[in-house]
Amino acid sequence: MSAEHDPAKHNPASHGPAENNAAIWTDQRQVADWVATSAERERTRSVHRQVMVELLPFDEADSFTFVDLGAGTGAASRAVLDHFANAQAVLADFSPQMMSEGNAALAPYEGRYRYVTMDLEQPGWPGDLPAPADAVISSLCVHHVPDERKRQLFSEICNNLAPGGWYLNYDPVGATSPEIADAWQRAGDRRDPSAAATRANRTPEQLKRWENHIRHISPLEPQLRWLEEAGFDAVDVYWKDLDNAIFGGRRP
Ligand SMILES: C[S@@+](CC[C@H](N)C(=O)[O-])C[C@H]1O[C@@H](n2cnc3c(N)ncnc32)[C@H](O)[C@@H]1O
Repeated sequence: MSAEHDPAKHNPASHGPAENNAAIWTDQRQVADWVATSAERERTRSVHRQVMVELLPFDEADSFTFVDLGAGTGAASRAVLDHFANAQAVLADFSPQMMSEGNAALAPYEGRYRYVTMDLEQPGWPGDLPAPADAVISSLCVHHVPDERKRQLFSEICNNLAPGGWYLNYDPVGATSPEIADAWQRAGDRRDPSAAATRANRTPEQLKRWENHIRHISPLEPQLRWLEEAGFDAVDVYWKDLDNAIFGGRRP
């Protein structure tokens, strides 16, 4: 398990109040640090992003519009746009700093994407998002909202998908016992021998991001139930590796 993904292991050096999620993602230094370290994280994540792409029910030449919630700099969207040459992306995020970085990263896709400002914690589907969307994806962001809002968001996504449209969520999930958390960490540390040192030596910025990262991570099982309650069928965990999962379903 990566040092970023260990909800059971709070850093004992931290005793301060949790930093506000919005404050972190709109802090230029935090965003610059996140962007500077993203290539390293994408080395392992690009394979997971391909699984999301493979799961989408489109032919390579199909024209469709998808929404990427909490899109950040668009890593998930870029994987979809690369595979489906006629796809259009609508990326939703609440951080002008992340969207600005995203505009640079998405320059080769000019004309195939647009950003929409959206705070995922606020109820409602913004009017400038497609409704219905042909597909909705999210990656590494739904864990930033409280559980009650996750439930509500899953309903809003289902209600704003075209019939037969899919929602896929790539997100860290919580361990349901200390033993499971330990096993995830053990395996993660064997894969990445520098993980323990990284955990022990977080900079103040990284510590704030870490505390923000783990605040609302939830186990998989209730999230699968919330998807079903929201109206999705074909709900499944389509991929999982330690604490990372791709799960979702289809609007009937
Ligand atoms: C870890 S980054 C992931 C970005 C991108 N989805 C990816 O896979 O690389 C989390 C993103 O979620 C966004 N985010 C966090 N909370 C949010 C909220 N309440 N509303 C909208 N976006 C949010 C942040 O601005 C950031 O861009």
